[in-house]
Amino acid sequence: MPEVDVNKRGKNYYTDIPQETPGFFLKGSGNLDWGMKHRLAQVFNPVSGRTVMLAFDHGYFQGPTTGLERIDQTIVPIAPKCDALFCTRGILRSLVPADIQRPVFLRASGGPSILKELSDEQIAMDIEDAIRLNASGIGIQVFIGGEYETRSVHNMTRLVDMGMRYGIPVMAVTAVGKEMVRDAQYFRLACRMCAELGAQVIKTYFVPEGFETITSSCPVPIVMAGGKKLPELEALTMAYHAVQQGASGVDMGRNIFQSDAPIAMMEAVNKVIHEDMRPRDALDLFNTLKNEK
Ligand code: R5P
Repeated sequence: MPEVDVNKRGKNYYTDIPQETPGFFLKGSGNLDWGMKHRLAQVFNPVSGRTVMLAFDHGYFQGPTTGLERIDQTIVPIAPKCDALFCTRGILRSLVPADIQRPVFLRASGGPSILKELSDEQIAMDIEDAIRLNASGIGIQVFIGGEYETRSVHNMTRLVDMGMRYGIPVMAVTAVGKEMVRDAQYFRLACRMCAELGAQVIKTYFVPEGFETITSSCPVPIVMAGGKKLPELEALTMAYHAVQQGASGVDMGRNIFQSDAPIAMMEAVNKVIHEDMRPRDALDLFNTLKNEK
């Protein structure tokens, strides 16, 4: 039976070239399904292998944090400069323009406010709503060593199972109780537990001593959480050290949106993360952009 193909040009089956089998650029993610990889590749830049996520989910437990009183005024103008947003579905629906063309990680846990025991969280979103909102990922707090440690770990594993059903990656955020020591030993434990139990991305804090042992012993990408507002040079230095020591980017909030010049800070962080710009040079860039404004 002849093939139904009238094209006169000879076919080329490239029989002398072995078929390409694409790998995947992101640490520990090579065996994930295509949809999950595709979502992760929207968040992590395939060229640098890193991401600059903009976190503005703080209101889910602390209300209108400084800098987030009017998200339409402070976050929406800087959001196009980041690689991905990290926010709640309430803010996404009410304030973020749907044509923003930036992937979104949605906060999927909640419950207690700053007035109560923070580790007492529950899963706070159906996976169907994450799909409806076209989320590229979902994020959840995990309180290793906290009062409700087991529940928060179980919340995460249930969310991972939901995400696996639909190809949506889960970012586990290692939350540290006020009274707990923030050192490499603690974060090695917390990050490794979250990865072993299925989280595809881990968000954790930078520590000046031994951060490279945290990234090294965690088999999936780590993004650095920003933490409280620091002078710009300190924040840029922390981000620089984090990626030089194995982090796959940052998920920063206050150090960007509480800066005197958030867009300039975003540009400087982008250079540090994606182009390995040194902190002093990034500060010079920040000051130049700030003064231009
Ligand atoms: C972590 O607890 C929450 O996701 C925070 O709302 C957010 O990550 C904080 O970002 P930053 O510490 O950089 O302000």
